[in-house]
Amino acid sequence: MKKIFPADQLARDERFVRLDTAERFNDPRTIRGSGSAGRMGRQLSPESPGAPDAARSLMHGIFVGEIQALEGAGRTCWDFDIGKGSDEVPFELKLDMARQCWDEARHCEISVKLSDWMGTELGEFAESVFLYEAACNPDPVLRLTGVNRALEGLAIDVFNTMREFGTKAGDPVLEFCEDWMLADEVTHVKMGSDWLRRLTANDPGRRERALEFQRVVDKLFSLGGARGEDEESPIKLARRFRELAGFTTEEVDEISDLSRDARAEAMARTGGGD
Ligand SMILES: [Fe+2]
Ligand SMILES: [Fe+2]
Repeated sequence: MKKIFPADQLARDERFVRLDTAERFNDPRTIRGSGSAGRMGRQLSPESPGAPDAARSLMHGIFVGEIQALEGAGRTCWDFDIGKGSDEVPFELKLDMARQCWDEARHCEISVKLSDWMGTELGEFAESVFLYEAACNPDPVLRLTGVNRALEGLAIDVFNTMREFGTKAGDPVLEFCEDWMLADEVTHVKMGSDWLRRLTANDPGRRERALEFQRVVDKLFSLGGARGEDEESPIKLARRFRELAGFTTEEVDEISDLSRDARAEAMARTGGGD
């Protein structure tokens, strides 16, 4: 079986619609921090007319992300041999990835049922495969930093925001689904933080390359600054859960600054109005 399996050959049935990342971000239903009417530029609130569609779009994006997280963690078990080389991994890292596969498979099932509960058809929103693409990095440390720390870190922020939205909307199904998945994502992000520190303890250059890859992924997927700590941020940066997942206060501050920059850039591009 081949190593580093290409993203365009991932198995999907006819319900799924693939778009590249740029096209997906241009879908007017995609959540973002700034944009024209019809785009969800403010906090998710049950009173806002765009909230149900924004919530359904966001959770469909999470659902396809769960499939790709399962595929990516599975590939990381397979793509690297056990050893101490830069293209090898400790056996214990594979065990963590196997545990993650189990969790992500459960998240796929939860997401399918939650989508049905929210009135969403599978494939109603498009899939872009950026999470899986980050999971194709040939360096296992960059792979875990880009996927587990950056993208699953974003998943922590989304799950926490959606859990609060479920509470406000009086929807216990949404609230509990988000709460259970949030608990697992904290574990997955912590795996990324722990392996980054362990595998680069004596290699500062590799650690810096990994952190730079994380910064690039974080900026690219801050959704035009939708994720942040400002009052109007649609997706709240979940500071406490990120600290539980091995982020230092300075690292969370950096993500917060980066999101604010992305929001300012997006507002400048769109003329400043939501
Ligand atoms: Fe997940
Ligand atoms: Fe995960």
